[in-house]
Amino acid sequence: MQVNNDTEKDYKPLIVAFCCNWCSYAGADLAGNNRLSYPADVKIIRVPCSGRLNPLFVLRAFQRGADGVIICGCHPGDCHYTTGNYYTRRRMALLFSMLDYLGIERERTKVAWISAAEGQRFAETMNEFTSQVASLGKNKRLEDLRCKN
Ligand code: FES
Repeated sequence: MQVNNDTEKDYKPLIVAFCCNWCSYAGADLAGNNRLSYPADVKIIRVPCSGRLNPLFVLRAFQRGADGVIICGCHPGDCHYTTGNYYTRRRMALLFSMLDYLGIERERTKVAWISAAEGQRFAETMNEFTSQVASLGKNKRLEDLRCKN
């Protein structure tokens, strides 16, 4: 029994963060330059724009063992491709409600708007999201067993 408690204590969720190149990825860079800390288990995937994100990427991340997925982009009205983040907002609202229907808790997914000047906000968002996902425990709903070692 003690072993299980220790294992739960050591549990660190795997977070996949899709960040748009122009704002959020630069925000992550700024967080790093300012030596702000956020969990090392946040794996950042840089995309040209949040609008580039195919909803299947989110599903695939869950299949490959992600416990939470966060999509970060420019603030509405600031997208470098004019309307990419508006598409993202609508697509993800649909996807997240579908995932909720499938039993993936809404707290495992998030869309955040973070500009290149918001390193502090990037670190805070990642810390908050990671602890939120950690409180839910491991995600096994969409796990693809072929991806297991
Ligand atoms: Fe950042 Fe489109 S370029 S969301």
